[in-house]
Amino acid sequence: MTHKIEIAKGDITKFAVNAIVNAANNSLLGGGGVDGAIHRAAGAQLLEECKTLNGCETGEAKITNGYHLPAKYVIHTVGPIWEGGKSNEDKLLSNCYKNSLKLAVEKNIKTIAFPSISTGVFGYPFIDASKVALRTVSHFLDNNNLIEKVIFVCFSDSDLNNFKKIMDN
Ligand code: AR6
Repeated sequence: MTHKIEIAKGDITKFAVNAIVNAANNSLLGGGGVDGAIHRAAGAQLLEECKTLNGCETGEAKITNGYHLPAKYVIHTVGPIWEGGKSNEDKLLSNCYKNSLKLAVEKNIKTIAFPSISTGVFGYPFIDASKVALRTVSHFLDNNNLIEKVIFVCFSDSDLNNFKKIMDN
C-alpha cells in the first residue's frame, strides 16, 4: 500500500488535507514544537475545544475541528517520551499512528498528514521512530481501504533524507 504514502518537507499547518495530526502532550492544552504551531495557526477556538476533551493518554488520539487551518480536522495524539527504548516506547508510538488512523476512518477522513511524533521535545531518535511510523501505517493501509493518502511531513532536510532512505529499504 506504499503508493498511498507520500513524504513531504515543510510546515504541517499549511497542508490542505482532511486532517493533520498533532504531536501533543497529555493535557492537550498546547505546548511548543508542532503543537504550538498548530494552535497558533488554528486560532484560539482550538484551545477552547481541547479544554473539553479531558486530556489524552499516551498512545491514544482525540479529534477536533481545524478552525483556521486548511485542514478540516486535527487529530491530537500523545507520543511517548524517549527513555532509552526499554519503556515500551515503540509500542506506544505505534499506537499513536494506529489510533490516529482509526479515528480518521471513523470520521470518513481520506487524506491525512503526520508530523514525526515524539522526535522533537520528546527525544525519540528520528530513524527508529520513522521505522515504527512507516511499518504501522503500511500495515494499517494494507488492512483498510478508506484512507487514500498519508503524508509524512518532515520538518528539516536531514529528516526528509533519512525518511527517504528508510522508505527505499
Ligand atoms: N510542521 C511539521 N513538523 C514540525 C513542525 C511543523 N510546524 N514543528 C516541529 N515539527 P515536537 P514531540 C517537527 O517537539 O517530540 C510539545 O511541547 C519536529 O522537528 O513538536 O512529540 C507538545 O505539547 C519534530 O520532528 O513533538 C509536547 O509537550 C516533530 O515535529 C511535546 O512537545 C515532533 O516534535 C511533544 O513532543
